[in-house]
Amino acid sequence: MTETLKLPVLPLADSVVLPGMVVPVRLDQPEIQAAVDAANSVDRQVLVVPRLDGKYAAVGTVAVLEQVGRLPSGEKAAVVRGEGRAQIGSGVTGPGAALWVEATPVEDGPVTGRTTELAKEYKSLVIGILQQRGAWQVVDSVQQITDPGQLADTAGWASYLDLEHKAQLLAETDVTARLELLLEWTKAHVAEQEVSEKIATDVREGVEKTQREFLLRQQLAAIRKELGEGEPEGSDDYRARVEAAELPDDVRKAALKEVDKLERSSDQNPEAGWIRTWLDTVLDIPWSTRTEDTDDLVAARAVLDADHAGLDDVKERLVEFLAVRARRERKGKEKVGGRGSGAVLSLVGPPGVGKTSLGESVAHALGRKFVRVALGGVRDEAEIRGHRRTYVGALPGRIVRAIREAGSMNPVVLLDEIDKVGSDFRGDPTAALLEVLDPAQNHTFRDHYLEVDLDLSDVLFLGTANSYDTIPGPLLDRMELVTLDGYTEAEKVAIARDHLLPRQVEKAGLEPSDVEFTDVALSMIAAEYTREAGVRQLERGLAKVLRKAAVQLDSGTEAPVHVDADALVGYLGRPKFTPESAERTSTPGVATGLAVTGAGGDVLFIEATAMEGEPGLTLTGQLGDVMKESVSIALSYLRSKGLAGDLAQRKLHVHVPAGAVPKDGPSAGITMTTALASLASGRPVRSSVGMTGEVTLQGKVLPIGGVKQKLLAAHRAGLTDVIIPKRNEPDLDDLPESVRGELRVHPVADVSEVLELALEPAPVSAAA
Ligand SMILES: Nc1ncnc2c1ncn2[C@@H]1O[C@H](COP(=O)(O)OP(=O)(O)O)[C@@H](O)[C@H]1O
Ligand SMILES: [Mg+2]
Repeated sequence: MTETLKLPVLPLADSVVLPGMVVPVRLDQPEIQAAVDAANSVDRQVLVVPRLDGKYAAVGTVAVLEQVGRLPSGEKAAVVRGEGRAQIGSGVTGPGAALWVEATPVEDGPVTGRTTELAKEYKSLVIGILQQRGAWQVVDSVQQITDPGQLADTAGWASYLDLEHKAQLLAETDVTARLELLLEWTKAHVAEQEVSEKIATDVREGVEKTQREFLLRQQLAAIRKELGEGEPEGSDDYRARVEAAELPDDVRKAALKEVDKLERSSDQNPEAGWIRTWLDTVLDIPWSTRTEDTDDLVAARAVLDADHAGLDDVKERLVEFLAVRARRERKGKEKVGGRGSGAVLSLVGPPGVGKTSLGESVAHALGRKFVRVALGGVRDEAEIRGHRRTYVGALPGRIVRAIREAGSMNPVVLLDEIDKVGSDFRGDPTAALLEVLDPAQNHTFRDHYLEVDLDLSDVLFLGTANSYDTIPGPLLDRMELVTLDGYTEAEKVAIARDHLLPRQVEKAGLEPSDVEFTDVALSMIAAEYTREAGVRQLERGLAKVLRKAAVQLDSGTEAPVHVDADALVGYLGRPKFTPESAERTSTPGVATGLAVTGAGGDVLFIEATAMEGEPGLTLTGQLGDVMKESVSIALSYLRSKGLAGDLAQRKLHVHVPAGAVPKDGPSAGITMTTALASLASGRPVRSSVGMTGEVTLQGKVLPIGGVKQKLLAAHRAGLTDVIIPKRNEPDLDDLPESVRGELRVHPVADVSEVLELALEPAPVSAAA
């Protein structure tokens, strides 16, 4: 039986003293001071009792007063050491001001197997916590505790338990129950701590990663500096630029990958240079820029009219094209993913008729950017689609460069001289062009250099070509052709006055009032100094005159300088293209033919002579197989009609001058026949007559192409009579009024009619 003790009460509101603890107690309360005084006067024992919320607990701690003194702060304090639990009994009287009570010491309850197990679990839990805090000394002393009650009471030090908890531990006299409580609370604490630690780690790791990268980059820069390599020019800049640029997602991804590579590579690495060039290219492409189209077709037509004189039907065709395109585009937008499938409009005609500049006008009329891609002489697929980046000096192809130059994703791109692309061992540019032009493929066009998809579906492609039969077949299938055949003299004068002259005046640094051209002078430059379907040489002629005029003005001549017909010889020398037909056809055997060449329509003279010698035929000049056939057919026809004279007994020589394209051979049929008939009969060909038409063995005249161009050429050359196949009569509708008025056109069905019209009557001497 435990004896009852009589002890002074030391109430504590801000801490709980469990058995085994040595705790300093501030003597700032009269009750505490009284208890200490009382203990001092007797056997130094007190009963430390928690007084939370003003209420005394039922169980207190019997403690020994170890020491009384002052804290470093100067406050009076006592140090007490808890020894054991005691149940508080009734109040008793005692010396001093202290409250005295009866206290019955309580031993810990029986230790069972479960108690030991709980104690073991708690121990390892606590040691874990302590180790985490690095409290190694405490770990040691806890390790050594074997008594379960004593172990549980070390919880008095735990910072994660509040006073309530500790008071409960004090009150719990059954050691097993005490350990259960303690385990529950400690586990909760550990779990809580794990969660908050996890959050903290996550946050820390996120910060660390960016910080780490930053630090690594700093270090990299420092290392480079140390090696004397210097900061790779603007490499940080590239990351920022890529991040700031409005790029499609996949492009941004690809670009950032390259930036990563760039940041890792040293400045001396040649790859760094390639990567930078590539990134510059990607950043230069106007990925998200597009211009707004004007949909006012009247205004569009007005722009076309302002830039080019004449060409009514061509302009009309262009406006129709734009209207249809705009309509289809609006529809395409409504259907999700629907894309226009319009053919590519191509302007076909001889040089200098304004194909290229019309293309530019179309862009202007639509309010789009314009880029010209010159395809003349392109033989390599890589020109169109770019070189793979692994090539030294690799470049993106023309299409990518065009988009970059345009600065918008929907420019007008003029594929200029599309008939001049060739193909050789380096691959076929035509195939690449087909992909560019195919609406089903061109929204994901892949340039070998760029290696990311480029959407070309909003680009308006136009083409130009000198003649359609030289356009590669597959491309031709995708095209809608608009032909420009060339200008009449009157049209050229109008173009010169309204467009070429003002431009050249400005180029020569003159004022419009400085020079005055008469219309006659302009038409002379067009007719006698140049021979062309277009106006290129005419423009050059004007420039030449203006340069000379500028010199005159500088050397004192009064403005304006007058340029009339007489003055022209002074500026341009003697005319180069006086009508030569009269001279050339004065001897029998020469006939004037009409042909279409790369430069538009032209006149050409087919010459035949016969001489003594072995009977036979020599052919010189521009002679394809077709031309040879024409000669044979003509001879056979003439023989069958008895018109060949003694040609069969003589050595024959036929010359077809350069300029007539071999393909055009058949249309020289009636010219060939006429030349030979003229030679055989000795009757010269009328100098005013030009002709074109294919001929059969029976003498039938078959239709040919390019009538308009040929007649324009005849008109330019000063011919007044033109013989054409009867079946080409409908083509005459295309002919400008002014030309029709000045040309007598003779449609014929049979060669005999040709000879009738073309040959001069037999000379009197021959008849004699
Ligand atoms: N109908 C026209 N009106 C005004 N200028 C024209 C006309 N046709 C051609 N030109 C001018 O002639 C020059 C040559 O034209 P260009 O477009 O280079 O011809 P192409 O591409 O057909 O060879 C350009 O300066 C162009 O502006
Ligand atoms: Mg051109």
